[in-house]
Amino acid sequence: MSGLIEPHGGKLVNKISDSARSDELRAEAKNLGRVDLSMKQSCDLEMIGIGAFSPLDGFMGEADFVSVCKTMKLTTGDIWPIPITLSVESPVEVGARVGLYAPNGVLQGVMTVNEVYAHDRELESTIFFNKAEDDDNEHPGAQAVKAEAGHCLAGPIELVEVCVDPDGPEAFLDFRLTPHQTREEFAKRGWSTVAAFQTRNPIHRAHEYLCKCAQEICDGLLIHPLVGETKPGDIPADVRMHCYTTIIDNYFVKERTVLSVMPAAMRYAGPREAILHALVRKNYGCTHFIVGRDHAGVGSYYGTYDAQNIFNELDEANLKIEPLKFEHAAYSKKAQGMVSGKTFPKLEGDQIFLSGTKVREMLGHGERPPGEFSRPEVADVLIEWATKTN
Ligand code: ADX
Repeated sequence: MSGLIEPHGGKLVNKISDSARSDELRAEAKNLGRVDLSMKQSCDLEMIGIGAFSPLDGFMGEADFVSVCKTMKLTTGDIWPIPITLSVESPVEVGARVGLYAPNGVLQGVMTVNEVYAHDRELESTIFFNKAEDDDNEHPGAQAVKAEAGHCLAGPIELVEVCVDPDGPEAFLDFRLTPHQTREEFAKRGWSTVAAFQTRNPIHRAHEYLCKCAQEICDGLLIHPLVGETKPGDIPADVRMHCYTTIIDNYFVKERTVLSVMPAAMRYAGPREAILHALVRKNYGCTHFIVGRDHAGVGSYYGTYDAQNIFNELDEANLKIEPLKFEHAAYSKKAQGMVSGKTFPKLEGDQIFLSGTKVREMLGHGERPPGEFSRPEVADVLIEWATKTN
């Protein structure tokens, strides 16, 4: 692992149990209290256990929770923008061990509870907004937090299962590399600079452009789609994976590209989530992180470049991973290629822009969006899905 970027906080956590330890934990869990995890909590547990959330080795205690909400730092001083909490309806005794069960009923992990505290949902909701007046009770991330339970359990965890549904359509076992495994892969390929591309959408031409620009300046690219919980209306992860493999097969240099999934839940927290996405990719071994327009945004809660500007406020020595900031990119008819406001003058009616709603409509009618917007091979995958579901 030497030569690759240091993980956040200095040490890559690994809470994956070997099969003997997993058997012990399964036997122990029969006599333990049970916590049924939400999808988001289950995603968080996997992220902690595989080391993607290093330096966290469990769910956060109150001091970290408050510090993260108010200062975007852990009590250690390390940057951390979003609370990772385990909220439950009924508190358990401090010192107890509890079994953590995934939404499908599988024992996913075991936790030692070393702290129980009241879940300040009002405080946590503030992380989604620039100012309190922006909270219109519609933000999906804030609404999810407000609907969570009133007590938080904190303490270290051990994973019993890495992937709780290995036979399911969203397991992607060939692409579910842990941070330890992506680091090994990068080392094997001899890469020392790696750009990460976060996405929760199919790769359209603008996304592809960002990826290719990053490839020009880094040894390699990690296409790293988020496949944990997303909101209704987002395109399902298995459909997106089909789009990713299709575009890589047709338009990317395989020797320079790694595709792997990130089993995290989306928060739609815009700027703060962009920081989390960057720190997590550092743990996966990446040195650069692509941040484009309205990264991890939803609705109109954030300014187009808020998620880029927030990086200017951070201590670079602690962040270490370098944000690659991209302006809004689109195809220019005059330039006959992808451009942004940095590279080509804005001309009336020159750029090809399609709203998400328009694209959905076209796909649903079996119609390919223009090649300047989406590669035809990707459009065909989406048409197959959209005409089945609509
Ligand atoms: S996100 O929630 O993961 O940010 P999405 O998958 O749409 O959503 O975006 C992936 C990345 O591409 C983000 O960094 C986003 O800012 C960037 N991006 C998406 N579309 C564009 C565009 N037209 N121009 C520049 N950046 C873009």
